[in-house]
Formats: sequence, structure tokens, C-alpha cells
Amino acid sequence: MSEAAPGGSAEKVFYEEAGLRYEVDGEIATITLDRPEKRNAQTFATWSALAQIGENLPQQVRIVVVRGEGPSFSAGIDLRMFTPEGVPGQGSFASTATLDATAFEGRIAQAQQGFLWLRRPDIVSIAAVQGHAVGAGFQLALACDLRVLADDAKLCMKEPALGLVPDLTGTKPLVDLVGVSRAVEICLTARVVGAEEAAGLGLAALVVAPGELEQAVRDLSAALLSTNRDAATATKRLLQGAPGRTLEEQCAAERQEQMGRIRALFARS
Ligand code: CAA
Repeated sequence: MSEAAPGGSAEKVFYEEAGLRYEVDGEIATITLDRPEKRNAQTFATWSALAQIGENLPQQVRIVVVRGEGPSFSAGIDLRMFTPEGVPGQGSFASTATLDATAFEGRIAQAQQGFLWLRRPDIVSIAAVQGHAVGAGFQLALACDLRVLADDAKLCMKEPALGLVPDLTGTKPLVDLVGVSRAVEICLTARVVGAEEAAGLGLAALVVAPGELEQAVRDLSAALLSTNRDAATATKRLLQGAPGRTLEEQCAAERQEQMGRIRALFARS
């Protein structure tokens, strides 16, 4: 459930049950995980709200910043899911386990919708990560195109330690970034990857002092906004498709995108 900000502004929305705040300022949307007293633990309501934001993102938005309030980016899934009582109104793993296969898979697919849209070619998503990014927190950061880390960032794929697998879209970007072997080591030990190591592994675009995180994200956003919007979208589409194509196929894709750009820029009607 969402609630417009006082004054009825459409540009600032609080998703109270989800523990999210969402603001749009021109071309930049900012999503803030806003339950710092619980280290921004995530629930199904969080993922539904994220999906809803993606579905309704204003057309002018080009940058989506995902950040967390307080000392941690996110401590991952709300641990109440592991208890018999679960999260009020949202169930528990025990109740989910009784669903039939179609409903069960549908529930996970629904949760993944909260993460998938952050890869859309028409936006660039940036995770601003300070402190812990555990489990679903790490996966949310991985769902973003870019990660800016404070030097106190601690990334941890905790799921295997809890008997689960990472299922919130994080395994593919992790493997794409660090390779299968390193991903196996990181996930199956559930160890903490610090900011410096993360930068060395290609998991971080930038590592800054905690006090500089906000400004660093603002500067990066400004640099990203300085390029042509349609060219940026087409280029992201090309880059995203590259790993799945041969060189010849990629060259063909480049030709197609460039023809579209040149026609859009120079063709006279
Ligand atoms: N769910 C619910 N509450 C949480 C939470 C979580 N994931 N993480 C922290 N909290 C709560 C704590 O219970 C505590 O609440 P109270 O003040 O009411 O006791 C409060 O947040 C502060 O927690 P800490 O004192 O532990 O804070 P810290 O800064 O010292 O430590 C932390 C931070 C290292 C992240 C630690 O809180 C922690 O290890 N949390 C659990 C992490 C975890 O195991 N998450 C699950 C990952 S797996 C996953 O996400 C599954 C999936 O995708 C399917």
C-alpha cells in the first residue's frame, strides 16, 4: 500500500508496509530502503513496492538510485520469515512451503519482478551501499547496473548458510561480474566481501568514504545524464546483449542500433 506524501505531491511516495520511500526529482528517481532500525530488512511487501515503482516509473526518469537509510544498505530478507508466525500479513517460509508448485513458483517470480526492472535499457540504476548488504540486500545491489560503495560496505551472500539459494536475480550478475569460480567461493562460504575487495573484483564502480557516498552518487548521476538519452538507451541495450552474441552478431547489432540513431538524428522527413 502506498500513500502520497503530505500535500499530495505525486513526486514523493511512502510505501509504509514495505519500508520504502520513493522520490522523483526530474530525471532522477531515488528509492530508499527506510527501516534502519531493522537494518532495512526486506519483505514481500518491499519487493511488491519495488515492482510497482518500476511499472509506474515516470517516462522522464533516466537514473534510479537505490539506497538504504542508516548504518546498513540492507540486512536481507526479514528473518521473521523463518519463524512459524512469519511477517504479519505476508506469511512465512513454512506457509509458503505448503503452496502448490505453480503458486509457489509464482510467488518467487513475483518477488523477482521487484529486481528485474532495474536492468531496463532506458534507465541506469545505481546502488549506493554503505555497511551491510546481506542476502537479498546484496542481490538488490547486484540488480543495479552500478554499485557505489562506501569503504565500510560488507557484501555477503548469506542464503546458502541459511539452507537457501540466492533467488532474487542475483546469481547471474554475480557470475557475469566475477566468474563462476569466484561466485561459487563467495556464495558457498557466505563470507563477507569488503569494499576494497569488491572493487578489485569489479563489483563496485567506485569506493568512497562513507561521508562522500551521497555526493559521489550525485556526481555519477550527473555524468550519466550528460549523454544523449536515446544513445544511452541504445548503447546499454548493445552492451547488455554482447555476452550472449558472437562477434559477428554483435557487429550486426551495432549496425542496427547505429542506423536507428543516424536516422533519428539526421534523416529529413
Ligand atoms: N530481519 C529482521 N530484523 C533484522 C534483520 C533481518 N534480516 N537484520 C537485523 N535485524 C534487526 C535486529 O533483530 C535488531 O532488531 P532489535 O533492535 O529489535 O533487536 C536490529 O535489526 C539491529 O540489528 P543488529 O543489532 O544485529 O545490527 P548490527 O548493525 O549490529 O548488525 C547485521 C547488522 C550484520 C546486518 C546483522 O543485523 C545481521 O546479521 N542481520 C541478519 C542478516 C541475515 O542473515 N539476513 C538474511 C540474509 S538471507 C536472505 O536475504 C534470503 C533471501 O534472499 C531468500
